[in-house]
Amino acid sequence: MTDQTKTEKNRYYEAAPQDIDVANFRKVIESRRSVRKFTDKAIPTEILDDCLDLALLAPNSSNLQPWTFYVVQNPSKKKQLVKACLGQLAAKTAAELIVCVARTDRIDEMAKRNISEFPFPEAPAMVQKYYRFIPYNYKTGYFNALGNFKKVAFKVVRTLDKQLPVTAFNPADTQLWATKTTALACENLVLALRAYGFDSCMMEGFDEPLVRKILKLNDQQYPVMVIGAGERAKDGVFFPQYRFDRNLFIQKV
Ligand SMILES: Cc1cc2nc3c(=O)[nH]c(=O)nc-3n(C[C@H](O)[C@H](O)[C@H](O)COP(=O)(O)O)c2cc1C
Repeated sequence: MTDQTKTEKNRYYEAAPQDIDVANFRKVIESRRSVRKFTDKAIPTEILDDCLDLALLAPNSSNLQPWTFYVVQNPSKKKQLVKACLGQLAAKTAAELIVCVARTDRIDEMAKRNISEFPFPEAPAMVQKYYRFIPYNYKTGYFNALGNFKKVAFKVVRTLDKQLPVTAFNPADTQLWATKTTALACENLVLALRAYGFDSCMMEGFDEPLVRKILKLNDQQYPVMVIGAGERAKDGVFFPQYRFDRNLFIQKV
């Protein structure tokens, strides 16, 4: 435990550091652009690894970490992946190609890990209870039996003015659940790269069946995006960044 953390009367406290440089944080966000052309400079292994570690710190639903990041470095696989990315320049010139995969096939395993690897000598009873229950919230069972059961049960319970959390009623809901969380890690990854002076392009312009084939993904593993990363070429950004009027997107209600 660091000096910023302590346990007191069985409670855990973690101080919120206040010495964060907002100007640099803003610079990272504002200078991140989708870069479509990279130089041939490699990303040092330790930098890439640190960026991937920072990606894994993204918030994620119930801490179930339903993701895998495939750093495709094998030359023949990489060549196939560029083809799967429709030959986009952002993929062709990237020093690294990372396939970000959301997965719904490890919910039980990750729930168990949340109990066995809880950062106290023993996971509190509440935590253990939570992780015994939570897989049922996101799984839908064989032939969607559990999903259909939840559909009916939730309808009944809602008539009693009881509030219920987001749950999965079908495999598409489970996929969406894993995808939401994986996309957050993707953002962490590209911002981390930017903080190190490197750049990226998120790509969903890829042939999904071919990506699945290259990585031998099962049908509960969903490629969310491919991230091309490297050093920005001088002419790597094609036009200035623009967004529409903020009033279109932000509503204070
Ligand atoms: C999920 C996702 C998929 C994207 N797919 C592609 C892609 O296949 N090819 C590409 O050149 N850019 C792709 N982009 C980049 C967007 O076009 C880009 O983020 C957007 O135009 C805004 O530009 P900026 O990122 O420079 O701010 C994608 C971005 C996201 C978030």
